Amino acid sequence: MLPTRSILTGASRGLGRALALSLARPGARLVLVARGADALDAVAVAARARGADVLAISADQGELSGLDGVAARALDFLGTPELLVLNASTLGAVPMPRLLDSSDDVLERTFRVNAVGPLALVRRLAPAMVLAGRGHVVGISSDAAVEAYPTWGPYGGSKAALDHLLAVLAAELDGSGVSVHAFDPGEMATDMHRDALPDADPATLRDPSDVAIALLAALDDPGPVRRSLGGAA
Ligand SMILES: NC(=O)c1ccc[n+]([C@@H]2O[C@H](COP(=O)([O-])OP(=O)(O)OC[C@H]3O[C@@H](n4cnc5c(N)ncnc54)[C@H](OP(=O)(O)O)[C@@H]3O)[C@@H](O)[C@H]2O)c1
Repeated sequence: MLPTRSILTGASRGLGRALALSLARPGARLVLVARGADALDAVAVAARARGADVLAISADQGELSGLDGVAARALDFLGTPELLVLNASTLGAVPMPRLLDSSDDVLERTFRVNAVGPLALVRRLAPAMVLAGRGHVVGISSDAAVEAYPTWGPYGGSKAALDHLLAVLAAELDGSGVSVHAFDPGEMATDMHRDALPDADPATLRDPSDVAIALLAALDDPGPVRRSLGGAA
């Protein structure tokens, strides 16, 4: 059954937008987070047109000082969340440099956006799920978290860090009723993919709407942490 109270980061485009529209229906409450307010508002309007109640929060998940406010507004709007999708992510510098050419700033910012910020959100939002004894936390992972692709170091390293943090969280929450998943969406036709691999043929890539449906269908599968679906990406 689809969750009715969900928080989605990176909801203004790509997979996050597709998830928002897949979840939007009468009775659903959605909290959508991204930095760009205009694109986020457009998704909120589309989700409301499908009958959902929507709170759009413009925030940078790499700016940790703002996350108390994000979480407070989300919990106030939703009550206890049933689903938290840690989807927002950055490639770091584009084009992506080799590690020896990466700046300290890019390394630090990429890990903060892709791993530290998401875990900081979990720390603020998941305790309500644990109290309720139910809910799903899903981190969007990548093939780059397990394969050593040249120039994908900051991105892949930060995704590996997020995967491992969520694996530990899953072990710590075992028996709590809250499931923790790592979901690899595969290669999707999105802005991020175009930024990373501009020469790829979009026709060979997955439609984020199909991936959103697969992710939501996988929520009720057994098992605490899965790298799942999607194939290479
Ligand atoms: N596309 C692929 O082939 C592929 C493959 C494997 C894994 N993934 C993963 O799938 C997820 C979705 O990717 P996508 O392709 O849909 O990406 P996308 O189209 O680039 O969308 C990224 C979303 O994240 C938001 N975002 C980026 N930085 C943020 C920040 N610092 N704070 C808050 N929001 C931020 C963006 O909005 P703003 O810029 O307005 O903030 C946007 O809504 C990501 O975790 C990505 O790593 C993608």
